[in-house]
Amino acid sequence: MIKTINVHQLKVGMYIEDLGMSWLNHPFLKTRRLIKSDQDIKKIKQYGLLSIKIDTTKGGDVDPSGDGRPRPQAVMLSPAEPQPETFEPEELTTETLSALADTVSVQDEIAQVTRVYSEFLNRTRVFLSHVQIEKPINLEEIASDLDELIQSVFRNRYALSALVKLKTFDEYTYTHSVNVCVLALTLGRFLDFPLQKLRAVGIGALFHDLGKMAIPEKIINKPGPLTMDEFREIQKHPYLSAKLLKNADHVSREVIECALFHHERYGGQGYPKGLKANEIPLAAQVISLADVYDAMTSDRVYRKKINLHETLRIMYAGRAVQFDPVLVSNLVKCLGVYPIGSLVKLNTGEMGLVAEIDSHNLTNPKIILINESDPAGRHSPQVLDLASQSEEKSNNPRRIVGVDAPEKWNIDPAKYLLNEPSFTVCCSG
Ligand SMILES: [Fe+2]
Repeated sequence: MIKTINVHQLKVGMYIEDLGMSWLNHPFLKTRRLIKSDQDIKKIKQYGLLSIKIDTTKGGDVDPSGDGRPRPQAVMLSPAEPQPETFEPEELTTETLSALADTVSVQDEIAQVTRVYSEFLNRTRVFLSHVQIEKPINLEEIASDLDELIQSVFRNRYALSALVKLKTFDEYTYTHSVNVCVLALTLGRFLDFPLQKLRAVGIGALFHDLGKMAIPEKIINKPGPLTMDEFREIQKHPYLSAKLLKNADHVSREVIECALFHHERYGGQGYPKGLKANEIPLAAQVISLADVYDAMTSDRVYRKKINLHETLRIMYAGRAVQFDPVLVSNLVKCLGVYPIGSLVKLNTGEMGLVAEIDSHNLTNPKIILINESDPAGRHSPQVLDLASQSEEKSNNPRRIVGVDAPEKWNIDPAKYLLNEPSFTVCCSG
């Protein structure tokens, strides 16, 4: 039975059904949980809740005599018995996230997070396919999975954003939502957003285009230019997204603003309100950058994708008009001047794929040299650290002189960067 109790009646062994608080505002990975220790109770009380819902069929109940002690239930274990495994990691806080910062290499993190990303993508697809415009949506379940992605961008700041650009997992509509979410979390981490703000940005990014579901598909996927009427129709989608989110439980104003303002532009030429510069909430500006970066670097029905470095160059050129100049500079610093997966041309005539970025030396990443006799990159790829070359001050250090599209050379960066977990480092030349 679901029962509302005073938070001071909470005891070890009770099963929490609902904290009565938005997931965005508490640090727990899941709302529904068994209280396993006094420490759990202490953490819950810290969040200033007055009442809480418990499920007495899954855990202890309050004593009807009113002394507040839980009554034993059939599902309860005595202290001597082993406790059930819950597979719940520690609750997230901004501090525990900081402790994760850059503890894992790009390759190891990509290997670890690929499954998480694929599952998240599948859940998002199922979720979005069940959304009905007139019915309230429940974000709580999908939202809590977001914490796994947040942890990933802390373990390695480059891995997840690299993964989403190296692999094509699914059709654009779903991958775009999740990719914007990943890129916004990556930039949010770079900007030192605290956990609660990261969660708001992640949810806002995931559902920024939700309102497009109410617009005819033939307009959304039209290969040619839009008529004025069609464009006016498209321009309704931020309002529609915001409306849907407003109807959902426990969604903060910040999340709603992310959806409502993700097409505003720094110079005031965006929509729906034509807001300028700092009038646009920071979280919405972060999503806007992630949205444009992912759209430009993805194949669309009406144009081919643009390479990662060139996209950043174009976006940087649009600073102070399209985007806040400081924010777009931070995007470049955050993804790298040559993001992972970029095909770079060297002064020696060789080509390489960017495999790792040195955050202190963005123009000299680690690259995998392309072996012309092995274009698929199956045999012992050699990694060259351009930063250490430039430090050695050799007579003719290798350096990047340009970029090119991997497709033009029949090179699949994913084959080089995702299938070979270990590389031989080569610093000669
Ligand atoms: Fe949009």
